[in-house]
Amino acid sequence: MLVFVMVSHTRQRRTLFLPIVIKSGAGDKEYETISLAPLSVRPELQKQGIGGRLIKEGLEACKKLGYGSVIVLGHPEYYPKFGFEPASKWGIDDPFGAPEEAFMALELKEGALEGVSGVVDYPEEFNDV
Ligand SMILES: CC(C)(COP(=O)(O)OP(=O)(O)OC[C@H]1O[C@@H](n2cnc3c(N)ncnc32)[C@H](O)[C@@H]1OP(=O)(O)O)[C@@H](O)C(=O)NCCC(=O)NCCS
Repeated sequence: MLVFVMVSHTRQRRTLFLPIVIKSGAGDKEYETISLAPLSVRPELQKQGIGGRLIKEGLEACKKLGYGSVIVLGHPEYYPKFGFEPASKWGIDDPFGAPEEAFMALELKEGALEGVSGVVDYPEEFNDV
């Protein structure tokens, strides 16, 4: 079953946080994390802080649920505002061959990604969001 934190999904705005796993290179270990799925705010409502609030509230909700990290594939100029850094820093790869700087991770708990490396395994459901 796919469980997710949906901070907001209206006609004007949407953001989803989906549980995913990072599989170690040898395939013998799995680390649970969260994927911040495509975020969007209607053009006429952009630049009013809505996107930023959705992300911050979502990250806070993930932290309260006990998650230690979040992964995002997105604009490398936007997400670093919220603390995201290239996932390559931890040896975490994406399965899509995306540009390195666009595949980012954030530790919600200090050191949560230490010793974690591998490839993110997205569930099939991710293709529908
Ligand atoms: C990215 C997006 C969700 C931001 O929503 P928002 O409500 O406008 O965000 P905020 O108001 O909190 O922040 C706006 C700031 O982000 C910046 N920003 C928006 N999109 C950006 C991008 N692609 N790259 C860098 N900065 C970006 C704006 O320039 C603005 O900067 P400022 O505060 O210095 O003026 C929105 O622009 C959007 O829906 N874009 C189209 C869909 C998209 O590209 N989604 C991201 C998929 S990864």
